[in-house]
Amino acid sequence: MSRSVLSLMDFRPTYTAMLAEKYDLHRWDEVDDKQAFLDQVGSKITALVTSAGVGVPDGLLDKLPNLKVITSFGVGYDVFDLDACRARGIRLSNTPDVLTDDVADTAIMLMHATLRRLVVGDDWARSGQWAANGAMPLTRSVRGKKLGILGLGRIGQAIVSRAEPSGVEVGYFGRSKKQVDYRYFDDLVALAQWSDILIAACPGGEATKGIINADVLSALGPDGYVVNIARGSVMDEPALINALRDKVIAGAGLDVFYNEPNMDPAFAEFENVVLYPHGASGTVETRNAMAQLVVDNLDAWDQRGELVTPVI
Ligand code: 8YV
Repeated sequence: MSRSVLSLMDFRPTYTAMLAEKYDLHRWDEVDDKQAFLDQVGSKITALVTSAGVGVPDGLLDKLPNLKVITSFGVGYDVFDLDACRARGIRLSNTPDVLTDDVADTAIMLMHATLRRLVVGDDWARSGQWAANGAMPLTRSVRGKKLGILGLGRIGQAIVSRAEPSGVEVGYFGRSKKQVDYRYFDDLVALAQWSDILIAACPGGEATKGIINADVLSALGPDGYVVNIARGSVMDEPALINALRDKVIAGAGLDVFYNEPNMDPAFAEFENVVLYPHGASGTVETRNAMAQLVVDNLDAWDQRGELVTPVI
């Protein structure tokens, strides 16, 4: 008999359909009476499919006593309580690498869009301001800027390899100094002081919660820009909103927010901010590759008791 798998959502229709062919698949999002479902089916579930955005609803692990594996759609695993999983003997997989290029491209896109004021320019052309008032105000050049990376992991390094041809000098802050030629800062305020553009590419979670705070933003200064493709949690959002309102920094490019999808509406007030709705990995190609990796992890678990890309 095939294993009973509970999927919390339809992560990609074709891939959800693949799971339904191979496994006894249940869709949590389609269950009306969740309590009755848990009473009848909860103890049969051995695998759970979820995402880095959805995680595991409070209390659900308690209702799935035979759960052995969680396969998550996404690279970040800050939403998961790893200690609780370990204590229950539950393994976890994520989807690293396959999204690195698109996420790094998004960081670069937001950097250029913010300094060159792409959204303002688009509106200038569409609204007829160009014809009525002439050229849009001048913007800022990326070339020659100092680029600070918060978190020089796989995604951070992919950002750097794309940014260098644009003529930036690179520095970084992270838990440890790496074997790279870029300038290392052991203090984030010092990196921000040095940087013209600060890009956050570190993992979320307790260790980085609110790490981009008022001190970091004032060190970045009135000609400085911040880009966040990491997690909303790394940003002290009230401090960022104050910094944007009071022109403590020059602008921001943001893909991630503290309370997604209910972004703080204050961000929409600012002309010097470019917003993206947590879409860095949101291309057909990358989402398919992520979905395939979810299926591969589940199959590897089912067939060999292993995971292709384990977190724990
Ligand atoms: C996805 C992400 O948007 O990979 C991650 O950690 O945050 C994103 O790629 C998300 O997992 C899809 O729900």
